[in-house]
Order: sequence, then C-alpha cells, then structure tokens
Amino acid sequence: MTSVVRPDGPAKLTGRATYAADTQVPDVVYAALTPATVPFGQLASVDMTAALAAPGVLAVYDELPPMPPMPSPMLGHSMIPLQGKQIHYDGQPVAMVLAETLEQAQYAAGLVTATYTDVRRPVLFGQGEEVVPAGGHTFHPTDESVGDFDAEVKLADHVVTATYTTADRHHSAIEPAATIAWWEDDQLTLHTSTQAAGLAQMAAAMAFEVARENVRIVCPFVGGGFGSKGYVWPHVFLAAGAAKVSGRAVKLVMTRAQMFSLSGHQPATSQTVTLGATAAGKLTAIRHHGVNAAARVDQYTEFTTHASTWLYDSPAIDVRTRIQEVDRPQPTPMRAPHEGPGVFALESAMDELAHRLGIDPVELRLRNQPSVDPLTGQPFSARSLVECLQQGAERFGWADRKPEMRDGDDLIGWGMSVSTMNTFRNTSSARLRVQSDGHVVVETSMQEIGTGLPGLVQLAAAEILGCDPGDVEVRHGDTALPPHFGTVGSISAGALGAAVQDAATAVMEKLQASPGRSLADLVGASGLEFVESEGHWAPDEKSSGYSIRTYGAVFAEVRVDADLGLVRVPRIVAVYSAGRIINRLAARSQMTGGIIWGYGQALLEKSVLEPNLGRFLSRNLAGYVVPVNADIQDIDVSFIDEEDRIASPIGAKGIGELGATGVSAAIANAIFHATGRRIRDLPIRIHDLL
Ligand code: MOS
Repeated sequence: MTSVVRPDGPAKLTGRATYAADTQVPDVVYAALTPATVPFGQLASVDMTAALAAPGVLAVYDELPPMPPMPSPMLGHSMIPLQGKQIHYDGQPVAMVLAETLEQAQYAAGLVTATYTDVRRPVLFGQGEEVVPAGGHTFHPTDESVGDFDAEVKLADHVVTATYTTADRHHSAIEPAATIAWWEDDQLTLHTSTQAAGLAQMAAAMAFEVARENVRIVCPFVGGGFGSKGYVWPHVFLAAGAAKVSGRAVKLVMTRAQMFSLSGHQPATSQTVTLGATAAGKLTAIRHHGVNAAARVDQYTEFTTHASTWLYDSPAIDVRTRIQEVDRPQPTPMRAPHEGPGVFALESAMDELAHRLGIDPVELRLRNQPSVDPLTGQPFSARSLVECLQQGAERFGWADRKPEMRDGDDLIGWGMSVSTMNTFRNTSSARLRVQSDGHVVVETSMQEIGTGLPGLVQLAAAEILGCDPGDVEVRHGDTALPPHFGTVGSISAGALGAAVQDAATAVMEKLQASPGRSLADLVGASGLEFVESEGHWAPDEKSSGYSIRTYGAVFAEVRVDADLGLVRVPRIVAVYSAGRIINRLAARSQMTGGIIWGYGQALLEKSVLEPNLGRFLSRNLAGYVVPVNADIQDIDVSFIDEEDRIASPIGAKGIGELGATGVSAAIANAIFHATGRRIRDLPIRIHDLL
C-alpha cells in the first residue's frame, strides 16, 4: 500500500484534537505581556501601579528569577525577556501580568508603562556592517570554494552578474504559539505549541536547573509551524517562570501581533550571483555571496548560498555567507530556510544566463549536471534531477514554448527552476506493541504539525508487520514517550520511519513470525498479552561520505495583465526526486502546500519594517498577505520512483521544505518571459510590472 488517508483527520475536523491552548487545566491563571516600544535601549523604569489595581490582577512581573542563558539558539536565544534591562527589539516583553481571566490580563497589560534610556534609531538591514557569522547558527561553513573563480571568470565567454533580494517574511501559522505551565514540587509540566518537544524539555530543564526527567512536554498537535515552533521561544520561559513564582498554573497565548515579534521570521536577504559560461552553455565559474539581516543576539544565519555548491558542475565555485547585525527580533528557520531564498537567486541567474546564451533554460541545466558533488567530490546518494527536468518539461508541454505568447490582454510566460534542499537528518525512536487481538500501538514523542506523520507511521509499521495500516494506532506528542528529535528540517519521514521499522522488525523477531499467520495468532502463540520493542535510528558514519539532497523541477505559467500588471499563475507542474515516497497522498499534499508557500514568497509575502521605529508594521493577516484559494489554480505534482537507502534504511528523505524551493524563481522567470521585465526583488508586486 502506498497511501493512507490521514488517521488524525477526523479528530482535527471535529475539534477533538487538542492543541496547546485547548488544554483545560483547573485553576489556571491568564498571562498577558506588555511589549517594549523602542527598538533599542535600556529599560529605566516600569510603572505597574495601575495594572496592580485593575480588577482580577494577581501579579505583575517586570523581572523573573535569573535563568542561565541558553547554550544554543535552538533552545531559546541567549537573551530571555524579563532577565535584564537591555532592550534588543521592539516588542520585547518588559512586563507580564497574571489575572483571573484573559480579558483582565490583557487590559492590565495595557496599563503598564515603561520608560527607557539610551534609545536610538534602529540600525536597519542595508545599513549595518557585513560580518562573518560565528554564533550558534553556523552549522555549515560560511565560506566554501573549489577552483580559482577569478581566473575562470576572466576566461568565460559570457558572464552574468546580478543582485537579488528576498523580503522579511513571517510564518503566520493558524495556531499562535501558546504555553500552559504548572509546577508540582520540582516537576514542571508544559502544554506548549512546539515542533520539537525534546528541545523544549531540554531548554526548560536548563533554564530552571532541574533534571530533564522533571520536565514533561505535551504537544500532540501543532496548528502549523513552518519553523516558527522549532526553536524554543520566550513564551515558554515566561509561562514556566511565572508559574514557578506564583505557584499557579499559567496560560500564556501569543496574540497574532506578538507572533510578529516573539516567534521568529525569515530575515530579508541580499544575494549577488555571478555565473561564467562558455558559448556552448557550460558553466565555468559560479559565485554566490549572500547576506541576511540578523538580530544582535545569536547571529541567525540564512545559508542562502549553500545549494550553489551542489547543483551545477563547474571548475570554480565560490560561496560566502555573511550577516548584518541590526535591531530587530530574532529570525529563525522558515519553510524553506536557506535554499528557499537561495535557490531564487541562483535559478534566476541561470535564467538570465540561458537568455544571454540563447539556450533553452531546461537545456542549460541539463548541460551542467555534475556526476559527483562539485564541492566535495562525494558521490550523490540519489539524484534524479535529469529525470525531473525531462519529465517536468514533458508534463508541462515545455516544447511548445514560444518567444512571445499572448492571449487577449494577457501576456503569457513560461518559466522554470530547479528545486533542491539539503537533507538534514537527526535521531528518532519509537515503541511498538502488538496486542493479543492484533491491534498495534506505536508511541513516539513526535508532533503532528500537519504533514501527516501518523499516516506515515502506520504505513512504515504495516509494511514490516504485514498488517493493515488501519490496525496501527499512533500515540504521539509527549516527552513521556520515546524521543523524536523534532518535526523540523524535513527529518521525520526518514528518521521516524526508520525508527518505527526498527521497532517493528524487533517485534517480528520476538514473535518468530512466519508467513501466513496473523499478528493476533502470533501473539497468542507466545502466551503473552502483548509483545513490544523500542526502535531507534540515527544517521550512521558511512552515510556521511555522501552528498544527500533532494531535488525537483518546477514549471510555471503566468498570465500578466498587460494594462494592470496583475499576475495570475494558472498552472504549475513539478516533478520531484526525494527518495522513497511512503504515503503518496500526504506527500502530494505536502508538495502542493510547498508550492503555494513558494507562490506567497514570489508574489505576496513581505513584512514591512517601519524604519524609524524598527517595528514590523503589518502585524496581522490583513496586512501580511498569504495566498488564498482564489490565488491557486492547477498544481500538478509527481515524484520520480526512487529510493535512498543511504539517507535512511526506509529509503525516504524529507519533502516538507523541498516543495517551497524553486517556485519563486520559476514564477519570476515566467514573468520575465511574459513581460521582458527581470524582477530581482521578492515579492514581485503589481507596481514592478507597470
Ligand atoms: Mo522547519 S523551517 O525546520 O519547520
């Protein structure tokens, strides 16, 4: 079987699935935050008199007991609010109110006033100095090269060079971040919206200096994360800290506006790409230098240049990543981090080169395919990009592309791009139990963030057990269950799938399974009530010698109204090479969602920063525009039949982020084809085309 309908669907549709803020806790008190209104400065005073006198208010805190700074930004950035006087960003909490009702807390939070010293105008992106990032975000080298770029580019027949920019973007998940926290002696329980329960557990244990086992995180379902719930954010520390000081259960739910400052964003980037090539369209030099806006704490780094080291064969490749430290809240990974903004620049430049050379854009990519990783010389674990390009072109009808295509007032353009993601891998585990009635239970701390992981677990288990996937019940989302690193970085299909199969294999060995006998029979024969085993997976040493990535080819048709500049995208065709696809239905849904996400990056999404206040202005979904159904027309997704047993024993790699790469370049390239306008700054707006 290669598809199941998501087993979590009915619970979600009927409201039975519990999200963090849904949890009913007796005697809970409500917290609300007062934000700083300056982008930089020192907190001089906080006046809480009026707030303390307001109805229902139990306490107002402008400081919580000291917590040690977190050793990694994943565990919560090194600047936890209510821990000092330094203001790093507009919106940083300067006070927290606890009250009997939510309305009382919010009202009183608005009565708290603060004064500041050393306030200055914010340093903005484009004004700061470029520096080499050195903080906890540098999980790749910042500078990588092979060959002699300067020598090669001088010899090239053709050189294109251009600077591309991407905008500040916010994740805008339906569910705002939320935490309910309470202490029983030195035991802390947190119902918190997280993509990685284990990280939240570790962070809370460190912050409150208790053992990890003393912290329990519960979070079965996440109402959209897209990266905003991967790292641990201030609300976790604030809710748990207030619960400790007050002795009450504390509920803290971010407002939509607070989601624009307290749960990360994808920072604006500026990237310069230079490509040198022979007249025959063979790349000889690739340079990709990128810089992103970073907060002053922790130096968040967007590795926009990373994919330029593995996509194309070239004797010289030179990539460099820099940041600018500016006054703003902390950025974080956002679907798709790094390659999402980076592939836009590289694949726009490839289109510019194809146009310059008079070579078809698909053909230019085909002429530059490497046989091994161009930077490291490592073999690829699995790479069917050529097939993606060929099949995608076929499905789209690319051969019929004409230099000019028009339909009435509509200028029609066809553009394409490669998609790619590095395959990030991490650890996972699961416990699998077969009961005497044949019912199977799989338990893991994993969060279901909307990607359909419970269905994947069913299929992975059923394949080994030889049972119906519907017989497999999946319990998830609690650190009391076997740890899964996180529903982040597109790791889960490969990691959790492998861990579940490891557990299932061990159970089948215990059962001494022989073909033709049902699970119920086998357990019955063992004389036990159930048979269970725990399975694990971690990336092995041998696989680290491979270049493990995912790929795709995206083809877009745009229609640009010649008079109005309005862009429509009537169809997108995408073909992916991403290892084994375990649940075709859920995978198709993931890629469709990724493409819609890429559509947003291309045409809609931009968080405008007010330059005097250093404040994101559009802090709601009216001002921050994301795609809606009316924007979306035909999306045709397919996969190359492929397995990658080097990436994971189940043969799967992650796809959640892959789908969001390449789309913006395909649309921008299609707009160039339609209009002759090369727009290098995202999002592309109507006024860019008038
Ligand atoms: Mo992801 S951007 O690690 O949810």
